[in-house]
Amino acid sequence: MCGIIGYIGKKEIVPLLITGLKRMEYRGYDSAGLTVLNNDSKVLTRKKKGRVADLEQLINSEKIHSNIGIAHTRWATHGFPNDVNAHPHNDSQEKISIVHNGIIENYAVIKKKLLSEGFEFRSETDTEVLCLLIERFYLKVNDLELAVRLALNEVKGTFGLAIVSTYDPDKIIAARRGSPLILGVGDNEYFVASDASALIEHTKNVVYLDDDEMAILSPDGYITKTISNVQTNNEVKTLEFDLEQIEKGGFEHFMLKEIYEQTQTITDGFRGRLLIDEGNVKLGGLRTVKEDFRNAKRIIISACGTSYNAALVGEYLIEQLAQIPVEVEYASEFRYRSPVLFDDDIVIVISQSGETADTLAAVQEAKQRGIKVIGLVNVVGSSIARQTDAGIYVHAGPEIGVASTKAFTSQLTILTLLALYLGRMRNISSEEGLKIARELSAIPEKIKQILNIAPEIEKIAKTYSYSRNYLYLGRGFNYPVALEGALKLKEISYIHAEGYPAAEMKHGPIALIDENMPVVFIAPKDEIYEKIVSNIEEVKARKGKVIVVTNIGNNELDRLADHIIKIPETLPILTPILSVVPLQLMAYYTAKELNRDIDKPRNLAKSVTVE
Ligand code: F6R
Repeated sequence: MCGIIGYIGKKEIVPLLITGLKRMEYRGYDSAGLTVLNNDSKVLTRKKKGRVADLEQLINSEKIHSNIGIAHTRWATHGFPNDVNAHPHNDSQEKISIVHNGIIENYAVIKKKLLSEGFEFRSETDTEVLCLLIERFYLKVNDLELAVRLALNEVKGTFGLAIVSTYDPDKIIAARRGSPLILGVGDNEYFVASDASALIEHTKNVVYLDDDEMAILSPDGYITKTISNVQTNNEVKTLEFDLEQIEKGGFEHFMLKEIYEQTQTITDGFRGRLLIDEGNVKLGGLRTVKEDFRNAKRIIISACGTSYNAALVGEYLIEQLAQIPVEVEYASEFRYRSPVLFDDDIVIVISQSGETADTLAAVQEAKQRGIKVIGLVNVVGSSIARQTDAGIYVHAGPEIGVASTKAFTSQLTILTLLALYLGRMRNISSEEGLKIARELSAIPEKIKQILNIAPEIEKIAKTYSYSRNYLYLGRGFNYPVALEGALKLKEISYIHAEGYPAAEMKHGPIALIDENMPVVFIAPKDEIYEKIVSNIEEVKARKGKVIVVTNIGNNELDRLADHIIKIPETLPILTPILSVVPLQLMAYYTAKELNRDIDKPRNLAKSVTVE
């Protein structure tokens, strides 16, 4: 989704802004632009629909020198993706320039008022409305910072923004409400960015802005204050990842790199938390809510997309190990349907980015109703991580590929830890705890074995890459894996795919099966294995093409399946962490065969910060 980078210091601004924008390309965008101040009475703005490389080409034909500027990658919300709607947006006299992430919800009312006062608009965006509102106030009060504060008091909605102006040429003004913004603190140079990856090669010292906070950056330093003008004193934190971690490391795509990283990221998730010899779990982040968990009568897990699929596995895990009833709900539904909540409920939200607007709104809804909210989040310092009452970081490291892979298996790892923690607190014996802990610690090695058969999976993917539809079927713990396999395939290959509980097939989807329909069965040897074999027979009888994921050593399905992928055995509750890996690879190799833009699939954004 949209990205912001701004800089004030001594370096040449254009290459710095362009590199910063490139670092945020993975978030998804449709246009890019920048504004610099170069001693002219007007701001200098260049923007273009398309890739950052197109903007770079446009600018390279000019000789622009400056050391203060702001830049943006836009993912359209209000108005088409085109040059005019791209950010930055400027006031009518080209003296104030703004980049903005988020949505100004009352932009139509403000626009009407400004139009009636004679202001003219060039674009269809809500951001331009905010810019002209700032101009209107500036013309009255003659003070840029005050004009920004007055304008922000009038707008409803969300913003992460950065502003430069020839009225006050030694400053960048930044502000946030509901959209992340970080300051980078360098040596006599300062940055503002919506994403740490845009500034990490310059500094690891950062300040996270809170909602309704603003920052004023100058070559001599920065100050932070609330939008209502009370000075704040935010701690400088250190970023814990480096640039290498967000680069491809020899892999053709970030997605493939991240699939291979799972042998490590899962270990990172349980290291220091899983007490293997005690069959127990230590979760420091839950210290303050331990009693709430002990007394909880129900857990509601809310999330979106892949994180929602992880939540479904979480439901099965927690109910099985801890015997606490669990409900799973899409965050977008939870926030708007006034769910019935009880004082002894706990809401858990799961989010890779920690910035998903719907999930954040679910957090706020639950908190407003007085319910404890726990976050399972990957991005440290993200909005959800900071707004939840307690939480467990997922520790998957930066995930750049738009299609989530390693974050999913790390979320499953953390959900296993949580279920075991709650189970040991309530009813699980230490023997059972030991068995689960040992098996979980063996998972990374087993993932390595699956990665070793990637060439076989690639062959299968190629065989069916021209199919128009795919069906994914699984039961029990592997039903959410079927959903995730289908989601991965559709988002990066653009092939229509459905995930279903295998037994539901006969209630409808079976009508779709013919000789052109590949059907992926996730069929490990567990207690419902026999049932799924019957479902495989049903597909075979209708000439469907059967691809089975089952365990090494199970040769019974060789006669039925057209293709078979064998994965190591583990406990049924842990199978999803393994069984999803071949499905991630299937999706990857299918998309590769079709020459898709794997890391940046069309219409998708890494972090969905709009409703
Ligand atoms: C799918 C995918 C999305 C995200 C969803 C939630 O591969 O990445 O479906 O899972 O947008 O995002 P987070 O987890 O960041 O809240």
